[in-house]
Amino acid sequence: MDGEEEVHVLLVTLPKQGHINPMLRLAKRLVSKGLHAVLATTENERHRLLHFKASVTQQTNPPKTPTISLEFFSDGLSDEFDREKYLESSIESLQTIGSKNLSNLITKLKTKCNKISCIITNPFMPWVPGLAEEHGIPCAVLWIQASAVYFIYSNYFKHPYLFPSLDNPNDAVELPGMPMLLVKELPSFILPSSHICLTKLVSDFVQMLDKVKWILGNSFNELEKEIVGSMGSLQQIIPIGPLVPPFLLGEKEIIAASMDLCRPEDYCIEWLDKKPPSSVIYISFGSLIVMTQNQIDSIATALRKSCRQFLWVVKPPEKGCSKRSGEFPPGFLEDTKERGLVVKWCPQEKVLMHQAVACFMTHCGWNSTLETIATGVPVIAYPHWTDQSIDAKLLVDILKIGVGMKNEEDGTLSVDEVEKCIMEMTDKNTATEMKKRAIFFKEAAKKAVANGGSSDRNLDTFINEIQGKSF
Ligand code: UDX
Repeated sequence: MDGEEEVHVLLVTLPKQGHINPMLRLAKRLVSKGLHAVLATTENERHRLLHFKASVTQQTNPPKTPTISLEFFSDGLSDEFDREKYLESSIESLQTIGSKNLSNLITKLKTKCNKISCIITNPFMPWVPGLAEEHGIPCAVLWIQASAVYFIYSNYFKHPYLFPSLDNPNDAVELPGMPMLLVKELPSFILPSSHICLTKLVSDFVQMLDKVKWILGNSFNELEKEIVGSMGSLQQIIPIGPLVPPFLLGEKEIIAASMDLCRPEDYCIEWLDKKPPSSVIYISFGSLIVMTQNQIDSIATALRKSCRQFLWVVKPPEKGCSKRSGEFPPGFLEDTKERGLVVKWCPQEKVLMHQAVACFMTHCGWNSTLETIATGVPVIAYPHWTDQSIDAKLLVDILKIGVGMKNEEDGTLSVDEVEKCIMEMTDKNTATEMKKRAIFFKEAAKKAVANGGSSDRNLDTFINEIQGKSF
């Protein structure tokens, strides 16, 4: 690359853990291939991201050291504003005021870097492609969820005749390349129960696709082959994933950088070190879900009865969030302290890699789904909302590397159901079969991102295209 012009890419994301992680991981991959990356997010999480450090510890042969730098722009609201409670106003302010501030930032960056070759945006900021167009910069979207979810949303807004009325949750939905779904299993943002502004966000995303040159997918061919091959007239998704830390896939970590919005309680790794192989149930429901009293009670009671070892992440609600998390049943922590550990946040990728972990009770957020696939850990799938029901379907019905944990008709979770799932996932016969299949997909994930793998080739093609080269 000697003598070549530096290539700068701007990645724009919402400041949510499940959105920042894949964006940062993509930035790291671009930097490892010699590009410079700027990651921009909104000002209100600046204080929580201040421990961000990115260092390039090894370079391939770039002209100057490639870097990841962090930039912020204001969404026009104060830090204290409750963005979850007043969702509509916060989305509106981001679109009207935030877009002006991002535009100013782009102008500043253009002067600083001479040229921005591409803007890669989070799909849930559907006004960014228009802004990129105004600045004359080609735009890509990083679709941060399963390709199947992109396929469902795009079809729903472009080909609505493929769908039944969504009023009956038990009606069947048949889409090409997909297993039969029930209406209630569709991604929740298009269901009648969804907040109207979330439905609008997805609809706006689909409408702006004509301004987008590339839709990069955080997935890999071997995982969602049928879907990727069934796009028909929809804009093709280009799988470049799984975007997980390289060490999960046995690769060297070239750029050390992480952006945790909560401080991980690292001592849980030492705690796991003392446990026998495949003995611990890891439980976490991601960064957004606030557990109800019924869910905490049922999981705690089942864990108590099952006598299994467990590591449980119970994240407190965000500051200013009006929801209250459930509390543990009296005596639970004391009674289980020899075999259980409860933390507020953990280094999840390291936990999943640990040989003591037997299975993962998960909400099936897409990052957790990819991380469990990349580490070959079978799951107890307990999806809550947004894309999670589709991810659970993939893990349980298609890949067959887990069991689904189901709510009762009235929406509550029973102790028997949790116990049944725990028993199945720790039973030698069923667990061994699932583990074997999980290892198969772990190997496929590794191959996809390795040099010359399907995702690696797709990423190289994208990089060549933004540099104006075609091979
Ligand atoms: C959100 C949505 O809820 C999810 O459905 C969507 O697919 C992505 O955006 P979130 O709920 O946070 O994400 O879940 P997930 O996608 O799994 O992302 C959570 C991230 O936080 C993962 O990368 C996980 O490794 C990390 N994490 C979680 C930790 O580092 N420590 C923890 O204790 C828990």
